[in-house]
Amino acid sequence: MSGAIDSPNLTSLPSSPEDAVLRVNELGVRFKAHSGLFGRPGEDVWAVKSLSLSLERGETLSVVGESGSGKTTLLRALLGLAAPTTGSVELWGRSVAAMSYDERLAARRRCGYMPQDPYSSLPPTLTVLGAVMEPWIIVHGAGRREEGMERARSTLSELKLPEEVWGARVRCSLSGGQRQRVAAARALILSPELLLCDEPTAMQDVSTRGEVLEVLSRRVAEGMSMILVTHDLLLARRAASRALVLRGGSAVEEGLTADMLRNPSHPYTRALLSALPRL
Ligand SMILES: Nc1ncnc2c1ncn2[C@@H]1O[C@H](COP(=O)(O)OP(=O)(O)OP(=O)(O)O)[C@@H](O)[C@H]1O
Ligand SMILES: [Mg+2]
Repeated sequence: MSGAIDSPNLTSLPSSPEDAVLRVNELGVRFKAHSGLFGRPGEDVWAVKSLSLSLERGETLSVVGESGSGKTTLLRALLGLAAPTTGSVELWGRSVAAMSYDERLAARRRCGYMPQDPYSSLPPTLTVLGAVMEPWIIVHGAGRREEGMERARSTLSELKLPEEVWGARVRCSLSGGQRQRVAAARALILSPELLLCDEPTAMQDVSTRGEVLEVLSRRVAEGMSMILVTHDLLLARRAASRALVLRGGSAVEEGLTADMLRNPSHPYTRALLSALPRL
């Protein structure tokens, strides 16, 4: 690649201190039913229903819910990867729907995304370093390759990915947990102001999970805002000060994570808590 994609003015979006980083108002995402067996249509699915939330600079929110509750769809809708059927998403005080193409691109570049599945989301033919540098090269061009390489190395070290695998192709020789740390490095290399991560430690063991969470919380301490999706209430408590519990696409409870876990008000949150393993 010889140069960066035409860079829109990254300061063209307002970000005064009083603006929320993210404001979601009555968001709904409906998927059209596929034609079923013998062409019979099934029912449309509301993966997200009437959901509202907001996030300030440096704030963290865990989105918790069982499988199929709409967590991934919510993150995808925030990034414009799933089209909202109802409601609106505002980033840095501007409605995404009202943004021009350049403004959307600028907003997207201020967001990091760590998708749920590191098998399908990483470019298989690139090396680990190449995969981590890819977003940097797309934004800054090959002219700043050396700087990108430096950043890729320091991010991978921070995430404690063994140096022996940095030159390996993603397709071969990487475990699920290692792939997930490569995905984390890809999401962090551009120093996002807002990070959306989907089950970021699902494939980590206890120690590497702690390392990934430590890196995320360091970035949050520096001012990054974060939404962390998980089905694990203990991870939600460790990673974020606020939590939102999703069920069937709707928020059933929202509040300070510690309070919610100590004293859950919704029966569904109580059921999630009672399902936690006890020593
Ligand atoms: N592209 C799609 N087309 C049709 N239905 C979809 C699509 N994506 C998701 N859904 C449906 O939307 C609902 C929510 O799915 P989603 O992937 O957001 O759940 P999730 O909470 O992330 O689940 P998990 O914890 O298993 O990752 C599910 O019923 C799912 O079948
Ligand atoms: Mg999901």
